[in-house]
Amino acid sequence: MKEVDLLTDLNNPCAFVPTMGALHAGHQSLIRRARELADEVVVSIFVNPLQFENKEDLAKYPSTPKHDGQLAKEAGATILWRPSYQSIYPGELEKLSSGQIGRSFEGVHRPGHFDGVLTVVNRLFELSRPKYAIFGEKDFQQLAVIRQMARDLDFDLEILGIPILRDTDGLALSSRNAYLTPEQRVAALAL
Ligand code: PAF
Repeated sequence: MKEVDLLTDLNNPCAFVPTMGALHAGHQSLIRRARELADEVVVSIFVNPLQFENKEDLAKYPSTPKHDGQLAKEAGATILWRPSYQSIYPGELEKLSSGQIGRSFEGVHRPGHFDGVLTVVNRLFELSRPKYAIFGEKDFQQLAVIRQMARDLDFDLEILGIPILRDTDGLALSSRNAYLTPEQRVAALAL
């Protein structure tokens, strides 16, 4: 597996798994699926400031670079791509809109979140030009807005949603769920 900050000499077709790092077994299931689809599997790690409504949340987002490299390699990634902010957002920032779906459900409580997700995913797709892009169904609304964007912008790729992977207590594997106390985990299971 190569670790790069700029994508060059990609073998096509490639399968792409975008992440914000803090990888876990859920991400590995996406990478394994990607590897079934293509020999070249690009995993990106980019913590996208645009999708955080709150600076504190961004500042404390977990960062586990060494562990991420090990997990990505073990699951079959061929390229671990850690783009710089400059390469993702050169020049003036043009935000995409996630429209009505992005303002509903989770979007009601996280204004601008899905616009930020679409803005970065659009750039990641533009730079990697994958044939397949793999996302977790855990973030169901995210998957819906990304599918819509890919259709609207005519990206020539197939988007696959992969079922949720759960921890032994039944909670979805998620980088953020790692912060929960045992009591909070029990409460979260009610959702
Ligand atoms: O689901 C995530 O980890 C992020 O929202 C994504 C798709 C990598 C965009 O930053």
